[in-house]
Amino acid sequence: MTEDNDLIVTIDGPSGAGKSTVAKILARALKYAYLDTGAMYRGVAYAYMKEGEPADIGRFLKNLVIDFTFGTDTKVFLDGEDISGYIRDPEVSLWASSFSQNRVVREYLTGKQRDIGRKGGIVLEGRDTGSIVFPDAEIKFYIDANPEERAKRRHLELSSKGMDAERATVEKEMAARDKNDSERAIAPLVIPKDAIRVDTTGIDAQQVVDIMVRRISERSR
Ligand code: DC
Repeated sequence: MTEDNDLIVTIDGPSGAGKSTVAKILARALKYAYLDTGAMYRGVAYAYMKEGEPADIGRFLKNLVIDFTFGTDTKVFLDGEDISGYIRDPEVSLWASSFSQNRVVREYLTGKQRDIGRKGGIVLEGRDTGSIVFPDAEIKFYIDANPEERAKRRHLELSSKGMDAERATVEKEMAARDKNDSERAIAPLVIPKDAIRVDTTGIDAQQVVDIMVRRISERSR
């Protein structure tokens, strides 16, 4: 384990690769804060829906009173109210996905992510944390798993939340989202330069974290 307590660690990868689970355990192991950047996109999307989907996004963002707390979990506050319980709704997911292609929204959230992370001692997780937000981060991970396993995990996650979906449908939607994320013009999902790649197929979250901790110790020597 590193003694250094100010590293910036980024974890990117497609959905279902296990980023959130792994990032939380890794942050705990390193005694670092944890930031879920997807929750930030979701929070802005929720606010946008609540505002009645205003046409002028620039003005909407200017007037937005949104705060994020991070540490063991990422919480989102809108006008002081904790909205973290609402941001996983399917409708919010759709808007978040659409917003993630909007340059103004990306610049707004990238700025906030840099403000939060620049002091270090943090694990950031998302789609562009190592490529765009902190391209000079000391440790960048890119994690992935084969599409069947990712769909299986996503399916399990949805069932555990009481949302029933056909496994084949989950797999199809995931493939469409992957294509969207990787082919979008702004901040597409890419393997960041110098990233350490970890294939999580067939191994559990703790095993992934063990690999990561080992790789961090090697790089920090
Ligand atoms: O990881 P998630 O499903 O909670 O992310 C929500 C949406 O935000 C998803 O459509 C991808 C997008 N996103 C992004 O474009 N860049 C990030 N750094 C994090 C999330």
